[in-house]
Amino acid sequence: MSFYALIIGASSTIAQAAIKQFESNPLCSGVLTVSRRHPSSAESDGAMSNKVHWFETDYSESSISEVCQRLAPYAGNITKVMICNGLLHNDSMMPERKLEEIRASQLEAIFHVNTVIPMLWLSQLLPVLQGKLPTQVALFSARVGSISDNKAGGWYSYRASKAALNMLIQTSAIEYARRAKNVKLFSFHPGTTDTPLSKPFQRSVPDGKLFTPEYVATQLIDIMDTVPMDNKAAFLDWNNQSITW
Ligand SMILES: NC(=O)c1ccc[n+]([C@@H]2O[C@H](COP(=O)([O-])OP(=O)(O)OC[C@H]3O[C@@H](n4cnc5c(N)ncnc54)[C@H](OP(=O)(O)O)[C@@H]3O)[C@@H](O)[C@H]2O)c1
Repeated sequence: MSFYALIIGASSTIAQAAIKQFESNPLCSGVLTVSRRHPSSAESDGAMSNKVHWFETDYSESSISEVCQRLAPYAGNITKVMICNGLLHNDSMMPERKLEEIRASQLEAIFHVNTVIPMLWLSQLLPVLQGKLPTQVALFSARVGSISDNKAGGWYSYRASKAALNMLIQTSAIEYARRAKNVKLFSFHPGTTDTPLSKPFQRSVPDGKLFTPEYVATQLIDIMDTVPMDNKAAFLDWNNQSITW
């Protein structure tokens, strides 16, 4: 059965690997990518290659709404969705190691990208995703967002923003189960993957545990193809193992 893939936060290194895999899949009719950034390969707004289409957004509510209107012609045919946005550090902030490092500005910035933006998409995508075809939506979370698995502490903003995202996914899944029975929402932990997000922390990763984006994208697409369509939220890692909420 042919399908469209929708990749939000498409500049993510893992997203880029997934886009390439969908692009080479003959069953994939098109890859709809959403990002702040104009990909250098794009020739004109809306077209990167025959198969990959780019929608620009600044992730404001109005911009997300406008993109969803532009996605309306694909409604019911988008069956693979990845929401990849995530922020851990930038030039002016690093994950907090102790209470004295807590700043309102950091909490707000991290929550905005990791929690608010994905939730705005879950809210506004509902009519685009309602339909008959089994549809999987993977929202990129992180194992450190597990409340019950938090043994190391630290990384306050990032942990809490992903824990809050997980709660929003759980809560949305209950409403999607009523209003879009064809959709499975799940929170996805990619494992430590070689991307700009993990760069400053890669030295402490044991040998063989730093994944390539290509590997993680392959794993995620396999999970999407096989995940039970049970109308329940799940929290899954790259190896298709459940993580405790
Ligand atoms: N890499 C890892 O080891 C690892 C581990 C656990 C979880 N994760 C999660 O996996 C996801 C993908 O991460 P990655 O490693 O591929 O990171 P990446 O290459 O650094 O990609 C960053 C992503 O975050 C978005 N983003 C960054 N700043 C933003 C802002 N100010 N406003 C809106 N969007 C913003 C980008 O969207 P645009 O396309 O719009 O630029 C892009 O989707 C993230 O949610 C991350 O938390 C990664």
